[in-house]
Amino acid sequence: MPITTQILQTDAAGVAAAADILARGGLVAMPTETVYGLGGDARDGQAVARIYQAKGRPSFNPLIAHVASVEAAQKLTVWGPEAEALGQAFWPGPLTMVLPLRPDAGLSSLVTAGLETVAVRVPAHPVAQQILHSFGAPVAAPSANPSGRLSPTSAAHVMTGLNGQIDAVVDGGDCAVGVESTIVGLAAKAPQLLRPGGVAQDQIEAVLGKALEAHSPGDNVTAPGQLESHYAPGATVRLNAQERQTGEVLLGFGAVEADMNLSPTGDLIEAAANLFSYVHALDALAPAGIAVSPIPETGLGQAINDRLRRAAAPRPNGTMNQNQ
Ligand code: TXA
Ligand code: MG
Repeated sequence: MPITTQILQTDAAGVAAAADILARGGLVAMPTETVYGLGGDARDGQAVARIYQAKGRPSFNPLIAHVASVEAAQKLTVWGPEAEALGQAFWPGPLTMVLPLRPDAGLSSLVTAGLETVAVRVPAHPVAQQILHSFGAPVAAPSANPSGRLSPTSAAHVMTGLNGQIDAVVDGGDCAVGVESTIVGLAAKAPQLLRPGGVAQDQIEAVLGKALEAHSPGDNVTAPGQLESHYAPGATVRLNAQERQTGEVLLGFGAVEADMNLSPTGDLIEAAANLFSYVHALDALAPAGIAVSPIPETGLGQAINDRLRRAAAPRPNGTMNQNQ
């Protein structure tokens, strides 16, 4: 059902209204110096689920957690000397770093799509800075466009794609950089260029004093758009199950008696918010298998089913996948 999308100004009232919407679990598109981001509270699984719903993403790609400062980024990540060097050189600015996720980060597992790494960025745009300071917590924000469309560099672009799907857009005019942030992976043995963007590769290499590895599929760190080998549970997964077989645990949806239920009321937003943490929790029981109730292929159900189908896919050589 469409909602009314407010257009907020960049004055103190607009910033306060944006922070208030975030605190209530709503969605706000905000300007950054690269492109507009579609922000939601990164700690709130239902807010993050609504981001995927608004974008109409057919799968769960991990999102960037935006924070106001290096100190705030350190609370989410395992921080090292290379992160420190890049943070000092390029933050705030158009650089995103993928780092190991701290267990006590407090982020919804939907932000990282179940990965043990997290993408973090401190944007330089003064309005993004003010909203992040005022809200005081990490904001998950993919580019504020419907899935498969161009990233928006003005509030008008955001409205063209997402009017009626989000609570507000803060109109900060045109984005100065106009391309997405550069993504550097610092969670593998050597630093990797995961996506070219607003900071040039040679500038990053000059600060690190070494070359960035080009990412190739199959590496430990998952690259944007190459998530096929992504988190799979150790247990086998059986979809569209009506009941448990011997040794199985049941991941329920809707009015069924289950070991864990994604949403007893059949709410797809709640189910998406719970998906990764519940699969992890059931997998930790080391069952003979995880049976999953049928989930409708509508709205967020598509992305949920996409993830579960990948988890259920046959494993190479019949071996169990490790978490990646
Ligand atoms: O400039 C930007 O980066 C904009 C503004 C809004 O900050 N954001 C943006 O977000 O472009 P998005 O969601 O469109 O792209 C983020 C990319 C995705 O391709 C995703 O796969 C990758 O970051 N990513 C996020 N977390 C990751 C992780 N843990 N490992 C590898 N890649 C990750
Ligand atoms: Mg994007």
